[in-house]
Parts: sequence; structure tokens; C-alpha cells
Amino acid sequence: NVLILDFGSQYTQLIARRVRELNIYCEIHPFHKIPEDLSSFKAVVLSGSPFSVRGEDAPHPDLSNIRGKLPILAVCYGAQYFAHFHGGEVAPSNIREYGRANLSVIKDNEVLFENIKENSQVWMSHSDTIKDLPTNAVRLASTADVLNVAYRIDGEETYAIQFHPEVYHTTDGKQLLENFLVKIAGTAQSWTPGAFVDLTIHELREKIGDDKVVLGLSGGVDSSVAAVLLHQAIGKNLYCIFVNNGLLRKNEFESVLHQYKDMGLNVKGVDASARFLEALKGLSDPELKRKAIGNTFIEVFDDEAHEISNVTYLAQGTIYPDVIESVSVNGPSVTIKSHHNVGGLPDFMKLKIVEPLRMLFKDEVRRVGKELGIDKDLLGRHPFPGPGLAIRILGDITEEKVRILQEVDHIFIQGLRDWMLYDKVWQAGAMLLPIQSVGVMGDERTYEQVVALRAVESTDGMTADWVNLPYEFLQKTSNTIINRVKGVNRVVYDISSKPPATIEWE
Ligand code: XMP
Repeated sequence: NVLILDFGSQYTQLIARRVRELNIYCEIHPFHKIPEDLSSFKAVVLSGSPFSVRGEDAPHPDLSNIRGKLPILAVCYGAQYFAHFHGGEVAPSNIREYGRANLSVIKDNEVLFENIKENSQVWMSHSDTIKDLPTNAVRLASTADVLNVAYRIDGEETYAIQFHPEVYHTTDGKQLLENFLVKIAGTAQSWTPGAFVDLTIHELREKIGDDKVVLGLSGGVDSSVAAVLLHQAIGKNLYCIFVNNGLLRKNEFESVLHQYKDMGLNVKGVDASARFLEALKGLSDPELKRKAIGNTFIEVFDDEAHEISNVTYLAQGTIYPDVIESVSVNGPSVTIKSHHNVGGLPDFMKLKIVEPLRMLFKDEVRRVGKELGIDKDLLGRHPFPGPGLAIRILGDITEEKVRILQEVDHIFIQGLRDWMLYDKVWQAGAMLLPIQSVGVMGDERTYEQVVALRAVESTDGMTADWVNLPYEFLQKTSNTIINRVKGVNRVVYDISSKPPATIEWE
């Protein structure tokens, strides 16, 4: 197990992902909340930081329980931290130290740089430079412009590097992390999907025993993987509920329900479309629509959960990015990142929570799903928002609008699949706009609705860019939509990035 101390860098999660890619388990903790019991950790990585060590508010953690006791790799801020506070000197740099650089000198026979050759490309991002190394330091590498790019402290296993090994553009970054974690710290590379499945099933059995668990399935990757894991752990004591809110994709409820049953899950499909539609009546404000859907879901779910006697646990598909406590850049206070899945427990359901995926990143959830034998179509599905088509129909919702959008969306998504584009896109969908435009069909004037198609590439939905879909595909899709979907006479393609535009239009 590796401890990653977060100093607020935008790359902290990337460090964790790189470590996990080496099949090594790691956890991220804020620098001011170092776990008291360090016995399970074999190595520590200090992240970068937006702070300057020379600033008044610079994080100055007490590392006395760690330093000299566990191997440390200090990245960027950490490298400057040791220099500034332990006998060296950090000063503003005269030249810019951002982006690409190449290691021009690497000290011979240093384990940290094993299998890394001079000239290797590294990625820098800092405005201060280390003028003098801390006490007892040995320089390990330089670039043409920066003398003290990497060093270690003699007599302890403390290593510091000024560049970011976690970013893709540092060519040998993964090798360096492996050198540190495996060769220096002796960490085992045993964190595999198979090991996770075995361990988690064992832990779930221990924790849950013969109690009953209820879980809401959404058709998405996270809840599906959580369900299969729990099913393998406790079998029929897992009760799954899959609610049709009437705002899903065309045929989705039936086909996904069928798939779940095929997987052997104990699942009940609840068609509550009418109840959701009723709750949405007359609402056009996006946040009010979200609230109405959220509340209705809780009501429906609660009704269903009451049908099962003696339930003890509520299972959720929460994943690690929703759990990590992030370090606020604006001061020492912490903010907890809250997302759709977190804190979803209504007061009136006094159930204990079980979250089997809470330590996994999304790509790991997919790998675990594959290990569990879940269909790859299900694992590769695009994200789909909880409020579904309701936030893609701008303005108020009617049954007719839902039907129109389902048809349009179906043509678009099926087209992406037929053209082998589906897996190249992170998320795609159609928006029904609250405007009509004039058209001509045959000799008739039409005055019908406009739909916008959106397809984006992204890694986490936080930032995204529109996808350059082939013109022929867009042409064909637009044609099919206008010919087949009554009520639509115009199709546009959204070419906005996020930021500033969001992925959903509402
Ligand atoms: P935005 O529109 O904020 O979307 O760029 C980012 C990601 O979040 C999804 N999204 C939601 N998911 N409930 C959800 O479960 C919501 O209310 C919601 N709003 C946006 C969106 O589909 C995209 O993947």
C-alpha cells in the first residue's frame, strides 16, 4: 500500500492512477490529515502543489512520522519543500520551467533512474527553482536549464524530483515510479482485478453475513459492477431495483432488465414512468426538474425497498473520485467533493451503506467488470445522466417530446455503433431544443422542432471537447432523423468545448 499525500496538485489523481497501473494499491490523503497508523504503508509520494514554498500559506506538514522511516518520493512541491525547510534554498527562477525538458545529466548507478537514459523527456510545471539542495543531498539529475532536477538525501530513502513522473509527457515517468515503488520501497505488484475481486468478495461476506442488501441499478457501469460483485458475495440476499423513470433511451429499460436477469441478478424492474411524468408536469427550470426526478426516485425506491422485509444495507456504486477529499487551493480548509452518488441516503431509510467500489477509479471498475465476466457492451457504455432525457429536453417535459427525442437519440447512437464510432466517443446524445424552425418538405411548409447532436471526448467529464465526426456520418444521420422522426425538420451539431459549455445543455 502506498500513501499519496495531496498538496492540492491538479495531477494528484494521476499519480494514483499511474501507481495503480503498476498493480500497486495506493490511497490519497490530504497533507494535513496524515493517517496516524502508517503500518500498512510501504512508501509515500508527496504530490505537487499550486502553492510556493516561499509563500506564507505554504503547506508545512509534520513529516516526522514518515521521514527516515518510509521511503519518500517528493514530486515538484515536495522537492522544493525539503530544500526550503531543510537547509537548501528555493528562489524564483529566471527562466520559465514549464512543459517539455530533457534530462541532460543523470548520475550513474542510481536505482531511481535505472533503465532511464539521458535525454529522456520530462514535464515541468513550476516557477520556483532549487538553488541549493537541502543538507546531505546528492544530486541525481539535471537538465540544460535546471541544475537540481532530482536528488536524494543521504542516509535515508528520501528522493525528490522537480518534474512530474505522473503525466503522459514524461516519457519514462512510469519507469521511475516503478523504480521507486518496487526496487527501492519493495512494494508488491499484487493489486490486480482478480485480487480485488477475491478480497472484496471475502470482505463483503464478512461484513454483511446473512443480512439483506438493496441496490438501485441504473444500467450504468458502476451500479452494474457493484451488483455483480455483491451477487457473487451474497447471492440471493442482494435485491436489485431497476426503476424506469420514463426518461431512459429507447427500449433501454426492457433490454437492460433482460440483460440483468441473464446475469443471474435478483432484479425487480419497476415502471414508474407515469409517476415521474406527473412530477415533472409544468416544470421547465433544469434544477427544479432535477429535484423533482431525484425526489420521485427516492419515493419509488423507498416504496420498493419496503416491499423487501428486513433489509439492513443499501449498496451504492460510489467510486474513488467521488470519495477523495480534495485539498482546497484557497486556504487550509478542505472541501469534500460531492457528486451525484454521494450522500444519496434519504433520512427515512435508516440503512447502513455498503460501497464495494469506493476505492476504484473508473477504468479499474471496467477492469473489475471484465474480470467478473460482465458483457463488454455493458462495460463500454457511455455515461448517461441520472435525470436522463429530462435534461436533454430543454424546457418542460411531455410524453410526446420524450418519444421524439428517444427516436432521434436512437438513430444517432445506433449510427455511431454502425460506423464503429461509438467507442471513440466518450459520451453522445441528442438535445431537443425549445424552438421551432421553418422547413419545406415536398411542397409543404413545415414548422417543426430542432434537435442538436452532441458527441464529446473526455476522460472524466470535467473537461471535454467535441468530436470531429466524419461529415458523411453527420450527413447520413441528419437525413435519417429528418426523414424518420415526425416533428423534427432541422438537425444541428454542437461544436462547443467544456469549458465553457457543459456536456449537457441543462
Ligand atoms: P455537464 O453537463 O456538467 O456533465 O458537463 C458532466 C457529466 O455529468 C453528467 N451529468 C449528470 N449526471 N445527474 C447525473 O447523474 C445529473 O444531474 C447530471 N448532470 C450532468 C453528464 O451526462 C456528463 O457525463
